Amino acid sequence: MIGPNTDSTLGRPKENRVLENKKILLIVAGGIAAVKVPDLIRRLRERGASVTCILTKGGSQFVTPLTLASLSGNKAYQDLFSLTDEAEMGHIRLCREADILLVAPATADIMAKMTVGIADDLATTALLATDKPVMIAPSMNVMMWTHPATQANLQTLKTREVQVIGPGAGDLACGEVGDGRMAEVPDIIAALSRHFQKSRGEGPLQGYRAVVTSGPTHEPIDPVRYIANRSSGKQGHAVAAALANLGASVTLVTGPTNEPAPDGATIVKVETAAQMMKACSEALPAEILVCAAAVADWSVAGQTGQKIKKGDKAPALKLAENPDILATLSQPGPERPALVIGFAAETENLITNAQLKRASKNCDWIVANDVSTGSGVFSGDANTVHLITADGVEDWPTMAKRAVAERLAERIAKFAERNL
Ligand code: C5P
Repeated sequence: MIGPNTDSTLGRPKENRVLENKKILLIVAGGIAAVKVPDLIRRLRERGASVTCILTKGGSQFVTPLTLASLSGNKAYQDLFSLTDEAEMGHIRLCREADILLVAPATADIMAKMTVGIADDLATTALLATDKPVMIAPSMNVMMWTHPATQANLQTLKTREVQVIGPGAGDLACGEVGDGRMAEVPDIIAALSRHFQKSRGEGPLQGYRAVVTSGPTHEPIDPVRYIANRSSGKQGHAVAAALANLGASVTLVTGPTNEPAPDGATIVKVETAAQMMKACSEALPAEILVCAAAVADWSVAGQTGQKIKKGDKAPALKLAENPDILATLSQPGPERPALVIGFAAETENLITNAQLKRASKNCDWIVANDVSTGSGVFSGDANTVHLITADGVEDWPTMAKRAVAERLAERIAKFAERNL
């Protein structure tokens, strides 16, 4: 059996090829993270972007202009005063023709020069002469990063709307540990995608389809009575709203609730688990499936269609198992959404049970929440959840259900940018 998706073979939705034909002027400064630049160029070109590199003197200690030129398919520029470079492409044209300037790695030195406007080589001159957006991916020793000078420069650059990606924490090349590692290539790509999506007025989930289940199901006992549960639909509806807000095309399949239909989602109202199963199957294909509904595990078997009469003896109800929507739609197959998320409402051994559920239902992520008496989750507005993925468990602080939904939607967008 194939395990849950950690990456996807479905490919990005066509509409999401946001980097296609984008011109990126990549400025490579002198840090060890410059060794990640060849991979960055490859990934950008795979996404249809064109890349032209400027290499600082320091950068050329870590990566050669020939490597950058070969991978980008464009000359790698180095020298401000090179007659050839100026004749072919002046530094003004170089930065004016770009859609964005990306400095990766951005050293403490180049950040300081950018802050005060020093233009003593081609890279810093281009950065001063540009009228285009600038993004930097800092990379340096932790002491250099946390130094008040660098932090002050960072704040100044941010006030000038320079976009900053990373750095992350971890082992540094100098042997120390801490903040200063350049953002990973997929995160840089994601930040660039986000930038261009924003400039088009789009959300990061534009072009993705999501199906969300919400609310309880009602299982009829007879034409007037039913079995139900305490789900309010608040969390599921909030997830649908948050995904729609990030640009996804959302179908919300909901059992009976008092929640208003979220803006921007197509709503399909159902009563029973069987109807919910059918409506979800009909709403596929989609890249994202979030099963937040509290689906009844059983329906009442052998209904006659008549109201059961009150008699001397209480009737014995015979129950039949309902389809497990999450487990069914998680099975490998061409229609399996690339990212399937379930919810686990537990009253004991929350994490262990949720981890077991993730495996048994073959879903990718589980949002686990404690619904024991006193937690107030069912009817309340707040929720304390743990996100369980293949990588481990994330404990999220207690938040409004709307905030949980927004954070989850952001995580989904990040996953989509990196994997779909
Ligand atoms: O097994 P349990 O009900 O605890 O699993 C919870 C998860 O499974 C939720 O994501 C819920 O929406 C989903 N589920 C389902 N169909 C069922 C039962 C649960 O989709 N019949």
